[in-house]
Amino acid sequence: MKTKTLSLVLFAGTALAALPAQAAGSLNLICSADVVICEQMTGDFQKETGIKVNMVRLSSGETYAKVRAEARNPKTDIWWAGTGDPHLQAASDGLTLEYKSPMLDQLQDWAKKQAEGSGYRTVGVYAGALGWGYNTEIFSKKGLKEPKCWADLLDTSLKGEVQMANPNSSGTAYTALASLVQIMGEDQAFDYLKKLNGNIAQYTKSGSAPVKAAARGETGLGIVFMHDAVSQTAEGFPIKAIAPCEGTGYEIGSMSIIRGAKNLDSAKAWYDWALKPEVQSRMKDAKSFQLPSNKSAEVPKEAPRFEDIKLIDYDFATFGDAEKRKQLLERWDREVGAAAN
Ligand code: F6P
Repeated sequence: MKTKTLSLVLFAGTALAALPAQAAGSLNLICSADVVICEQMTGDFQKETGIKVNMVRLSSGETYAKVRAEARNPKTDIWWAGTGDPHLQAASDGLTLEYKSPMLDQLQDWAKKQAEGSGYRTVGVYAGALGWGYNTEIFSKKGLKEPKCWADLLDTSLKGEVQMANPNSSGTAYTALASLVQIMGEDQAFDYLKKLNGNIAQYTKSGSAPVKAAARGETGLGIVFMHDAVSQTAEGFPIKAIAPCEGTGYEIGSMSIIRGAKNLDSAKAWYDWALKPEVQSRMKDAKSFQLPSNKSAEVPKEAPRFEDIKLIDYDFATFGDAEKRKQLLERWDREVGAAAN
C-alpha cells in the first residue's frame, strides 16, 4: 500500500515537472551581440520561462541578409541585438513585425524613438559610441603615438597595425562608414577610407574581433564600439579605449520580431523580458558594457558615457534606409574592398 502511494506521488511529480516545459514552447533566436552575452541571455530566459531557445550568433549585416533571404519562409522568430541600422532596414523592407510592448513606457527616449521611427517594427535595447581600442604595450614598444583623432589613424607609422570589420557583414563597420560620411561628407569619407586601407591589416567579419585581436597582441588597434574596447580592458588586457576628437557616431542596438515568426508568443515573451530592468542590469556580468535602454536598469560603471564623448547627431532615418545601405556598401566594395583583395 505504502509503495503504491509513493509511486503515484512520484508519477504525479514527474508529470507535473514535464508539463510546463512542454507547454512553454520554443524560440528561434538570432543574437547579434557578443557570444558571451548571447549565451547568458538565452540561459537566463530558458531558466525563467521554460521556453527552449535555439540561438545562433551572427553579425548584424549577416543577420539582415539571412532574414531577407528567408522572407518567404522565416526560420527565425526574433532578432536580438546588433546595430540599429540593419534592424531599421529590415523594418523598411517589411521583414519585421509591428509590436508595441507594454514595456515601451519604461524606455529611454532614444529607444522609444527607434520604435516610433520604424512603425514599431524594432526597438532600442542598448546604445554605445564608436571609437577604437589600442594595445598600449605594442604602441609603447614600437614608439607609436596615441591616436586621438580619425586623422591620426592615417599616419603611415600605423601601417599594418589597424583592423576593422567589413561593413557588409558587421554593423559596427557599417556604423563607422555611415559616421565618417556624416562627419566628412561622402566623397571625403571614401578618400579617407581608401587611405586608411593602407594601414589595415585585415577586415574581419564580426565588429568586435579587431579589438580582441589587439588584446591578444595580433594587431595594434581595432576600430570598434568603445564598450567592446572597455570589455577587453576589464578582461585584464592592455587596451585603452579612445573617443575620436573630431566626433563620432553611435549605435542604438535593437531588437525585432520577424514577420511570419512561427513561435510568435515566445518571441513576444522574449521581447518584453529583454526590456526588463533586471535583465538589462545583468548584462554587465557578461562584460557587456553598453548603455541599457530601460531607464531603471543599472548603467555599468565601465560603460563609456555619452556625456563624455563628442557625438554626432547620427541620422538614423537616412543611414537606416535599405537603399542608402546598398549604395554605400556597393561603393565600399568597389573603392575600398576591391583594393584590399
Ligand atoms: O560586441 C557587442 C556589439 O558591439 C554590440 O554592441 C553591437 O550591436 C554588435 O556587437 C555589433 O556586432 P557586428 O559589428 O558584428 O554586427
